[in-house]
Order: sequence, then structure tokens, then C-alpha cells
Amino acid sequence: MATVLSVSGSPSASSRTNRLLRHLDERLVAQGHRVIPLDVRTIPAEALLGADFAHPAIVEATELFAAADGVVVGTPVYKAAYSGVLKALLDLLPQYALTGKTVLPLATGGSVAHVLAIDYALRPVLTSMGARHIVQGWFTLDRDITRHDDGTLSVAPAAAEALTQVVDQFSAALGHAPLLAAAS
Ligand SMILES: Cc1cc2nc3c(=O)[nH]c(=O)nc-3n(C[C@H](O)[C@H](O)[C@H](O)COP(=O)(O)O)c2cc1C
Repeated sequence: MATVLSVSGSPSASSRTNRLLRHLDERLVAQGHRVIPLDVRTIPAEALLGADFAHPAIVEATELFAAADGVVVGTPVYKAAYSGVLKALLDLLPQYALTGKTVLPLATGGSVAHVLAIDYALRPVLTSMGARHIVQGWFTLDRDITRHDDGTLSVAPAAAEALTQVVDQFSAALGHAPLLAAAS
């Protein structure tokens, strides 16, 4: 069993990205992983915007990253990149906060013009933070995600299938982590 930190980087209270991540968390839990959700929007703004490294919420987030074997990083695409609040959090973590961790990058966005935002914007930041293995990520169009009043979520079939694949690849990579670590 691996410990997975599932980080949603949307500032929106009704975030599709957030709901999508919590939906995918269920699949990881069903596969035997322990999943800890972290919604960046719940971290006090004064800590994020004031670069308050000593704020209890930042210290707690740092500890959650340190304790995780794997990290799901989900973000809406904002202005052709990832969200500012996600960057604000990443900036306050230690430089190598992702060392030795397996990472699954996910994005939601309104235009296929920015389908590569994960690869040209987010992935280099994750690499710079020491991520050992960044598995294939996925960009989901916002219109393929439907939020229902009862809190459930449905995803268009093709997108759902692709997401299932990348989540399962991430899960498998987590399972292999001790072997890879031992071999290196
Ligand atoms: C300020 C802002 C900027 C956005 N910029 C882009 C963009 O550059 N490219 C894109 O594909 N979608 C863009 N979108 C659409 C969002 O990425 C998309 O609706 C996403 O699913 C929102 O996720 P959320 O509900 O988790 O915040 C933007 C939305 C907002 C509010």
C-alpha cells in the first residue's frame, strides 16, 4: 500500500478539477492505496501570498508531501499554464520536495489548444523539485466533466477511459517503487 497525496490546485469553490481528483481518489483507494486529499484553496491566502514558510498550514502541507510515496497534482489550465495558487504552494515547499516520489500530473481546461500545458508548463516544475518518476498525465476538457447536484460526477466516456488508464499506470508505478528504488 502506498500513501498518495492528491493535490487540487484550483482556487474555485465549485472546481471541476477538485471534483475530478476526488473521484479518481476513489479508484486509488479501491486499489489499496491510502489517499490524502489536499485542496490548495483551503490554505490561508496570507500564507500563500505572504510567502510565510513558517505558517502552520504550509508546515503541514510540507509534511504531507514528505510522507507521500506518490503525488497527484491536478490543476485547471489558467492562461495557458497551471494555476497561480498551485505555483504559490509549490514555491513554498522545499526545492526537492518531490524527490523519490511518483507523480501523476492532471489538468482540466477549456480548450484543446492547451492540451500540452502539462508537458510544457507543469512537468518542468515537477522535475525541478526532484520527482523520480512522472507518469503520463492527462488533460481533460471541462465540458467532459459534469457535476451533479448530489455531489457525484460523471465524465464523458472517452475521457473517463483515458483517465482510468493513467490512474492505473500511476498505481502500478507506485507498486513498483520499492523495486526501482532498490535497483538504483
Ligand atoms: C482565469 C481563467 C483562465 C483560463 N485560461 C484557460 C486557458 O488558457 N486555456 C484553457 O484551455 N482553459 C482556460 N480556462 C478554463 C479552465 O481551465 C477550465 O474551465 C477548468 O476546467 C476550470 O477548472 P476548475 O473548475 O477546477 O477551476 C481558464 C479559466 C479561468 C477561470
